[in-house]
Formats: sequence, structure tokens, C-alpha cells
Amino acid sequence: MNLTGPTSQTAISMLAPLVAIKTVAPLHFQMSLLAPVIASRALAGQFVHVLPRNAGASDPFLRRAFSIMATRGDEIDILFRVEGRGTRQLSMLRVGDNLDVLGPLGRPFDLSLFHVKHPLPAILVGGGVGVPPLVFLAQTLHARRITPLTLIGARTASDVVGEGEFSAVGVETRLATDDGSVGHHGRVTHLLEQAMGKLPDGSRAVIYACGPYPMLQAVATVAARYGAPCQVSLEENMPCGIGVCNGCVVAMKPKQNEGDYGRYRRICLEGPALWAHEIEWGKR
Ligand SMILES: Cc1cc2nc3c(=O)[nH]c(=O)nc-3n(C[C@H](O)[C@H](O)[C@H](O)COP(=O)(O)OP(=O)(O)OC[C@H]3O[C@@H](n4cnc5c(N)ncnc54)[C@H](O)[C@@H]3O)c2cc1C
Ligand code: FES
Repeated sequence: MNLTGPTSQTAISMLAPLVAIKTVAPLHFQMSLLAPVIASRALAGQFVHVLPRNAGASDPFLRRAFSIMATRGDEIDILFRVEGRGTRQLSMLRVGDNLDVLGPLGRPFDLSLFHVKHPLPAILVGGGVGVPPLVFLAQTLHARRITPLTLIGARTASDVVGEGEFSAVGVETRLATDDGSVGHHGRVTHLLEQAMGKLPDGSRAVIYACGPYPMLQAVATVAARYGAPCQVSLEENMPCGIGVCNGCVVAMKPKQNEGDYGRYRRICLEGPALWAHEIEWGKR
């Protein structure tokens, strides 16, 4: 099925065979799906909407959104942490099972600031399972000969994911953990403050972030202090994923009051990545 709509014109619905599943950290799984059309159309920052069950079963009813972490030939990779019923069921699937997948959905990260001769440096900030879309972004930037700095925050050392994928494209990664078991003991936003503070006088960076809402809000605050353009990828629940239910709206600042939905944006269509300075932080 081909979907039509303002930002879902390239999305398709398909049964995708599971070609690999592995544990990458405690309760964290990486899955490869054979999805040639999605793989050929996906851009960094987009996601797939997955029925977290074997084709033919009927429970759970709602799809779950997962960022596309990488595309490789005809395959796409996703990475998830087991949180609840949906992800637990996903983790129990086996190679050869078929998954009902819709994608690629959402708008990709905005890379327009790199369409200049001397672009600003890029800093990627990922928290927990917010890292996967940044892996795809790092690979995309690498293909354009841009090497970002990546900052990863996690609860503890064993929850850090994506380090290998970043180093494979020559990206320096700095870690922060809540318990200090690896890297900086504390918030990943402390690392961001340090990195921004060390930029040469007068220069800025473009920041891309994905992770828990409080982390994104803190990243937005740091970005605003330094006058740095910042895109944040929000991970709200998405009942439909295609803009019809309004279940994923976020409030925007009044001056961004435009379009059918007034101050609200549907992040499945107009996101998940939005410019941080346009968001009305704290209102969801
Ligand atoms: C754009 C985007 C990208 C994401 N990328 C990742 C990723 O890369 N890796 C990752 O681990 N997680 C990612 N998530 C979160 C993921 O979609 C799941 O919501 C999360 O893992 C919860 O796990 P679960 O489904 O097992 O939880 P469950 O406990 O099964 O569900 C969580 C709760 O939300 C409710 N709920 C579930 N789905 C919906 C829905 N569609 N609409 C409304 N309510 C719902 C359930 O009823 C339950 O109360 C992403 C989310 C978004 C929006
Ligand atoms: S999830 Fe339904 S409108 Fe966004």
C-alpha cells in the first residue's frame, strides 16, 4: 500500500521479514528487517511504525514507533530497549518472522545549514534509546565529509549503545553516565556545556539531540544560551503515525502559530525532529 499525505508520500506498508536480531546491551535489542523500499527511501531522522507482534496475531493493537538506525542495502536496522508489552513482544520474535511495518515516516533531520561552503561543526547528543537516529545522522554527515562530535548519556555503562557505529565512521564519542560507571559522572548536558565552551571564540555549532524529554529540554536551554541552532527529535507516543488522530501533538511558541493545528504540531508528520527554539517546552 502506498500512503498519500503531506509528509508520508514516500511511506509504504509492508510485511518485512526479520533477518537478524541480537542483544546489544541488557534488555536492548538490534533488529534488521528486509524492507527494500523503505531502505531505499529512508533519511536520517525518519522512523518506522511497527506492529510489535508476529504477522497474523492481533495483540498489541497499536503500532510502536522506532527510529531508523541504519540502512544497509535492502535492510533497515532498528534498536530498542524493552520497556513494556510492545517491546517485550518484539524482543521475542525470531529470524524469519514477518513484521507489519509502515515507513519511512516523519520528516528527516534538517541539514540545510550544511549547504554552505564553511558549515558550522555538528554536535550530536543522544540519551538512552535516543541514540539510534543519531547513528543514521552521523553516517549521513560522514557521507558529506562532515565529522560530528557525539555525546551519549546513559544510566549506566552497560546501557551505552551505538559507540561502535559512531567509531566506524570516525566520529569521536564522549560518554556520560548517571552512576559514573563510564565517562563523565553526571548529565550528558554537562558534556555539551563543556564542548560548547571550548569552541573557538565567536563560533557556534549545530546541535541535534534525541532522548528523554527532560534531556531535550536541557539541551534546548544550553543551545539557546550559546545561540546555537538545535534540532530535537521527540519520542511521543504515536497512535496512528500518519497525522489523523492528533495523539502526538506538541505545543509550539505562539509566534509559530500557523497551519491547521494552530499552536500544535503533530510530530508524526511535522516531526519528530523540530527546531528547539520553536517548542513551548513544558507544555505537552
Ligand atoms: C519517533 C519515535 C522514535 C522512537 N524510537 C525509538 C527507538 O529507536 N528505540 C526505542 O527503544 N524506542 C523508541 N521509541 C519509543 C517506542 O516507540 C515505544 O513507545 C517505547 O519503547 C515503549 O515501549 P513499549 O511499546 O514496550 O511500551 P508499552 O508499555 O507496550 O506501551 C507504553 C505505553 O504507551 C501506550 N502506547 C503504546 N503505544 C502507543 C501508541 N502508539 N499510542 C498511544 N499510546 C501508546 C501503551 O498503552 C502503554 O501504556 C520511539 C518513539 C517515537 C515516537
Ligand atoms: S500519531 Fe496520530 S496524528 Fe500523530
